[in-house]
Amino acid sequence: MKVCVVGTGYVGLTTGVSLAFLGHEVTCVDLDQHKVDMLRAGKCPIYEPGMEELLAEAAPNLSFTTSYDEGVPGADVVFVAVQTPSAEDGSPDLRYLRSAAESVARSLNHGFTVVVNKSTVPIGSGNWVDAILRESFAQREDRPAGVEFSVASNPEFLREGNAIADTLYPDRIVIGSDSPRSLEVLNRLYQPIINQTFTAPTFQPRPEDATAVPLVSTDLASAELIKYAANAFLALKISYVNEIGQLAAKVGADITEVARGMGLDQRIGSRFLQPGVGWGGSCFGKDTKALIATAAEYNHEMPIVKAARDVNQRQRAIAVERLQDELRILKGRKIGLLGLAFKPNTDDLRDSPALDIANLLLARGARVRLHDPIAGERFRHEQPELAPHLSESLDGVFDDCDAVVLVTEWAQYLELDWSKFVGLMRNPLVLDGRHALDGDRMRRLGYKYLAVAG
Ligand code: UDX
Repeated sequence: MKVCVVGTGYVGLTTGVSLAFLGHEVTCVDLDQHKVDMLRAGKCPIYEPGMEELLAEAAPNLSFTTSYDEGVPGADVVFVAVQTPSAEDGSPDLRYLRSAAESVARSLNHGFTVVVNKSTVPIGSGNWVDAILRESFAQREDRPAGVEFSVASNPEFLREGNAIADTLYPDRIVIGSDSPRSLEVLNRLYQPIINQTFTAPTFQPRPEDATAVPLVSTDLASAELIKYAANAFLALKISYVNEIGQLAAKVGADITEVARGMGLDQRIGSRFLQPGVGWGGSCFGKDTKALIATAAEYNHEMPIVKAARDVNQRQRAIAVERLQDELRILKGRKIGLLGLAFKPNTDDLRDSPALDIANLLLARGARVRLHDPIAGERFRHEQPELAPHLSESLDGVFDDCDAVVLVTEWAQYLELDWSKFVGLMRNPLVLDGRHALDGDRMRRLGYKYLAVAG
């Protein structure tokens, strides 16, 4: 089928490259010439394991352009995956989505096209995009005859750092539209994934337990709500284990054991019960906020989702409290933070716990040294105020340090030869913000080991 993807951020790029890999003819449109040039040269503008390999394999079916007219005409499906940053009042800023929809409407020129909202947008945005498309199309003087289109929602559940596996081997595919014809087109588009009929890429083999992928084919509003309801649930699962973790610390229980014992109940499930400094990233914070805001428009309160957000914020502060309890005075102390990205295997810094923790420590007069194996360069650009505190080397972090906090559980830190660094520290205190290190081993090596909860 012929596919156009507007926007080559995380979601758009993964969607475009994966669909091209599956054999569809895909054109990715992005207004950023620099990004388009990079992608044409086979380079990925974001750090995502496997993406460059997939780009190479998909290359025969894939092109990149800055022109809507090269992608939209004749497309069976147009995915709109542009950024929806938070506006000042916290609501998503939909101006890029509006202008993308207007551009799509200007370029449609024949046949039936499904326009799919891939950006995470507030519930109800499908209808809003539909209205913009119709209005912009009606305003065209060169309006061609025989153009038909309808809007669908196809929420994305991919995790950064795991984007390709999550796209090729998803738990489910959700499509929503009020037009049966659109649902049929999207069902056909995803057949190779639904029935797992494609040859798996060598670098991302099919998991042994992979089976046919369930398809949830529903109305527009339900598909839009599924995305928010699922993300908010995952977010509150993390906050729940963190809330229990704080109690575990008080009663002398081990939260890792508690989480394991809970997770083995299949009704609960073991994933997303990892305690620590809490969630970050582009989705959970934004989606929970947007869900509360949408609910407010309908005069509906969401106390559970609100509490999940509060607990998440509190975890960041608790990391600093733990250090203060141990060191008493934070002023003048040197504290190292290991990991700046919001999770391992990405260089994404959005809403990363490390940023809040660093700022809280600085506000208390501590000297901080920041380190990340991958995200350092991005950090320098995006966080100019914190950038002077970056350290290129681990020696620079540990040297004469009063405490080191593991904020992001990069493999490099977990596999570190910790014995080499203990002697460098003035005070060998390690605060494990992810419950990811082996506490007994750390103690044997001479560290004072603490975890954020437990
Ligand atoms: C998330 C959702 O998983 C995905 O389905 C959605 O569409 C986009 O948002 P992502 O933000 O890429 O994906 O990362 P994810 O792996 O879900 O982790 C989110 C955050 O939660 C990270 O900061 C992670 O460190 C934290 N986390 C995750 C925990 O603190 N504990 C856990 O048990 C799991």
